[in-house]
Amino acid sequence: MRYRMLGDRQVSALCLGTLPFGAIVDEATSFALLDRFVERGGTFVDTANCYCFWVDGCCGDESELLLGRWLAARGNRDEVVVATKLGARPDPARGAEWPANREGLSAKTVEQAARESLRRLGTDRIDLLYGHVDDPATPVEETVAAFGALVREGVAGRVGISNQTTARLARSRKAAAEQGVAPYVAVQQRHTYLRPAPDADFEYQVHADAELLGYAATQPDLTVLAYGPLLNGAYTNPAKEIQQQYLHAGTDARLTALREIARAVDATPNQVVLAWLLGGEPSVLPVIGASSPAQLVEALDAVELELTAEQRARLDRA
Ligand SMILES: NC(=O)c1ccc[n+]([C@@H]2O[C@H](COP(=O)([O-])OP(=O)(O)OC[C@H]3O[C@@H](n4cnc5c(N)ncnc54)[C@H](OP(=O)(O)O)[C@@H]3O)[C@@H](O)[C@H]2O)c1
Repeated sequence: MRYRMLGDRQVSALCLGTLPFGAIVDEATSFALLDRFVERGGTFVDTANCYCFWVDGCCGDESELLLGRWLAARGNRDEVVVATKLGARPDPARGAEWPANREGLSAKTVEQAARESLRRLGTDRIDLLYGHVDDPATPVEETVAAFGALVREGVAGRVGISNQTTARLARSRKAAAEQGVAPYVAVQQRHTYLRPAPDADFEYQVHADAELLGYAATQPDLTVLAYGPLLNGAYTNPAKEIQQQYLHAGTDARLTALREIARAVDATPNQVVLAWLLGGEPSVLPVIGASSPAQLVEALDAVELELTAEQRARLDRA
């Protein structure tokens, strides 16, 4: 494993996403994956206060509760960097349609939802607390003040945002500086090697782009994290289709380059994608998903893979 700084905290170079744990992936398998991750030096795990409300019989508490049970069973809370997110949980008072009915990022929601996450995780602090999805109805000044208050109180170690445009991220960080509160030190967006079509619509999800990476390169205290880096397995699993937002005239060239470099370095295309993210400028921290030990090990091994400048150039040019 390799390590890097996220704000003032050291984290592993890969973050393990736990979205399906406790809902789609059973408890024994989830515990085994978390155990294997920490055995291999992983320290950074990612959840949210709404995973997986959309699964039959689930309400959205499942992933945080499972993580809480695992932390308690292993007694390793101090060694694990726990990230969770709030703001995307359905609020029944706002109707039945998600994401329109999400709880949002008002000061009141940020304050209350953070405490509910503490309870589910069985902890007194969240190492990295994100806003899950931008909330255009709440001024960014109100949201950053609420997150800042949680940092001051010690409920959150540091704060971040997910699915927010670069312009609003920059405004949020400026607002935090003006208020003298902790700024977002992490931004988690959809991101992978394949590029989305210029007009691709990911609904509420925001894809990383050159503007974000350019901005992050000028902000030494800001880490970019990538969710969905393996396209849910579609790079290598013939049973899965690449999401239509990534299908356009440039896709084949990119897939050809990926396979060519994978062959050249004796790695899998998934591993090359992760190495490409990790070795970029700025370096992007992948939030990976795995449902079996073999998938997890494949991702963990990618941390050791370093692409040469020529290999990166070939991938970037495609
Ligand atoms: N901020 C946000 O809005 C947001 C959104 C989505 C996700 N996330 C976070 O990001 C994490 C990862 O997201 P993701 O699951 O979409 O990421 P991903 O890494 O693109 O996809 C993970 C899935 O890919 C398949 N896979 C993994 N390794 C594989 C391999 N070696 N070969 C073939 N298939 C492989 C598995 O699916 P199968 O089990 O079907 O094989 C696995 O569940 C989540 O757990 C969550 O923490 C955040």
